[in-house]
Amino acid sequence: MTAEQSEIIKQSFPKVLARTFGNVRLLYEKLFELAPETKELFKNTSMERQSQMLVAAIGKLVRSIDNWENVKPDLEALAKRHAGYGLKPEHFVSFGIAFLHMLRSIYENEWNSSLEEAWKAVYQRISEVMISTLFVKS
Ligand code: HEM
Repeated sequence: MTAEQSEIIKQSFPKVLARTFGNVRLLYEKLFELAPETKELFKNTSMERQSQMLVAAIGKLVRSIDNWENVKPDLEALAKRHAGYGLKPEHFVSFGIAFLHMLRSIYENEWNSSLEEAWKAVYQRISEVMISTLFVKS
């Protein structure tokens, strides 16, 4: 992730925060289309709760985007809390596509390849730590 990419994310993040609540449905629709078996995993939650938690978690990461080492322990803890949910590594691929799909709709016609690459880099960082914590035995 380049310095320019982290600037792009920081500058535009308030928009994402403001609009995720209204758009999160798109993330889960896409996720359930790509990986229908994941629907079962979310049976105990509501989209409202899930969107608030997701935005809070991503917000925290974005605020620490320039001090990545500081949030790594938080991310590892988040990953460990996912251990009981029954996810598979490939779910992170579908979730990533679905997340980008939601962002594209949030940014509307401002969406461009720089934003796409920057958000992909953020998601890649998050999922790398989560996948290695969850699935790689040390
Ligand atoms: C960027 C990656 C992800 C982030 C930031 C994230 C974030 C969160 C957060 C903040 C929670 C609330 C509970 C807690 O804090 O422990 C949560 C719960 C959950 N997540 Fe994730 N998650 C990610 C990826 C995934 C993936 C790939 C799946 C599976 C498709 C998944 C499935 C779930 C489920 C099933 C719950 C529990 C819902 C409930 O019953 O309350 N998450 N996630």
